[in-house]
Amino acid sequence: MKPVNIGICGLGTVGSGTFNVLQRNCTEICARAGHDIRVTHVGARRDNPACDLNGVVVERDVMAVARAPEVDVIVELIGGCDIAKDLVMLAIENGKHVVTANKALIALHGNEIFAAAQAKSVSVHFEAAVAGGIPIIKAIREGLAANKIEWLAGIINGTGNFIMTEMRDKGRAFDDVLKEAQELGYAEADPTFDVEGIDACHKLVILASLAFGIPLQFEKAYTEGISDIAPADVKYAEELGYRIKHLGIARRTDAGIELRVHPTLIPAKRLIANVDGVMNAVLVSGDAVGPTLYYGAGAGAEPTASSVVADIVDVARSMDVVNDEQRVPALAFHPGQVDVDDVLPIDQVHTAYYMRMSAMDEPGVVSKVAQILSDAGVNIEAMIQKEPAEGVKQVDLIILTNVVVESALQTAVKSIETLSAITGTVHSIRVESLG
Ligand code: HSE
Repeated sequence: MKPVNIGICGLGTVGSGTFNVLQRNCTEICARAGHDIRVTHVGARRDNPACDLNGVVVERDVMAVARAPEVDVIVELIGGCDIAKDLVMLAIENGKHVVTANKALIALHGNEIFAAAQAKSVSVHFEAAVAGGIPIIKAIREGLAANKIEWLAGIINGTGNFIMTEMRDKGRAFDDVLKEAQELGYAEADPTFDVEGIDACHKLVILASLAFGIPLQFEKAYTEGISDIAPADVKYAEELGYRIKHLGIARRTDAGIELRVHPTLIPAKRLIANVDGVMNAVLVSGDAVGPTLYYGAGAGAEPTASSVVADIVDVARSMDVVNDEQRVPALAFHPGQVDVDDVLPIDQVHTAYYMRMSAMDEPGVVSKVAQILSDAGVNIEAMIQKEPAEGVKQVDLIILTNVVVESALQTAVKSIETLSAITGTVHSIRVESLG
């Protein structure tokens, strides 16, 4: 079999996982690829005791790997956007195919990287950048190629899901669970990327770009984290038959594309509502196939390596086929996939809402709140108010609304907050049926 020489740059968790999976499953992988795939070079500042680098050229300067004439494929597993971007651009300039697990790099610089790769007729693959071991990129690009994708919604940050699950199941405090996620190695180097939804947003814009044939538009996506979710919200959501999940949602509408990451109430009976811990899941709905669900480990050495190696196999296979137009998911290849490719501002998005407010236990409060909602065109679908405890003057008032445009809901929230009988802010969380 014709050899394909791989240069792995970055030998941390995913790099060492990739190196070891390639060694361990070499026979199967090479048979599937139709090529003798071998790691000839590693670029890493230091060796990793988990890898036996005997017979491999080890470079301390990763750029040397991108310049090595015998390397066919650069596997970028460094992370971040500085060295990683320079490395990928240099590899492309030198005519090498690229495989990367770097979601921030693709979300923020993918348009530029794809253009450079297209000009050089080399491939860029990034399956491991979204949802770790779940082959969701291949599902969208290949398995669902017959469909107009209508919407997708995913739990695409394991750390956030772990936190939400522990808070719900064990009533643990947010900070305590985050600390454990860091210790377990799930969290990003900067954990605010996980809890503020930035990591999920990187992944969402990649999925949306593939699903709808639109450029990567990270700067236009709406992002809201999970740090404001209170244990009371988790409890009331359960009472109403919902679970709170931190979702990335992309939807095609007549007015434009919705791109948003935020905590979301979803019916507890949906399969995705039961995806717990660090696991990821992505629901994709196509016009022909209907809703489909993909589930698996969203992080970790070998699950992520599974996707990286699948990309290496793809690159090896594509080396036998001259079809330059398929080497990168260039958007020019399927123009007009979306009716309107503008990303909608969040205040133009339509969803239902959960609202929690602290109300004085006195006559007329509910009717005033209901009047404000009615004036804003918001219909109340459900309401919870418990009998106050002895001596307590305030009660939680929980409302589920119908689907409304966000601007109407926000106007109503501002008016409700001016009522003297309402204390503090109104907490609102979007609700999606995902049916
Ligand atoms: N910090 C990420 C997560 C790692 O928790 O999902 C995988 O991208």
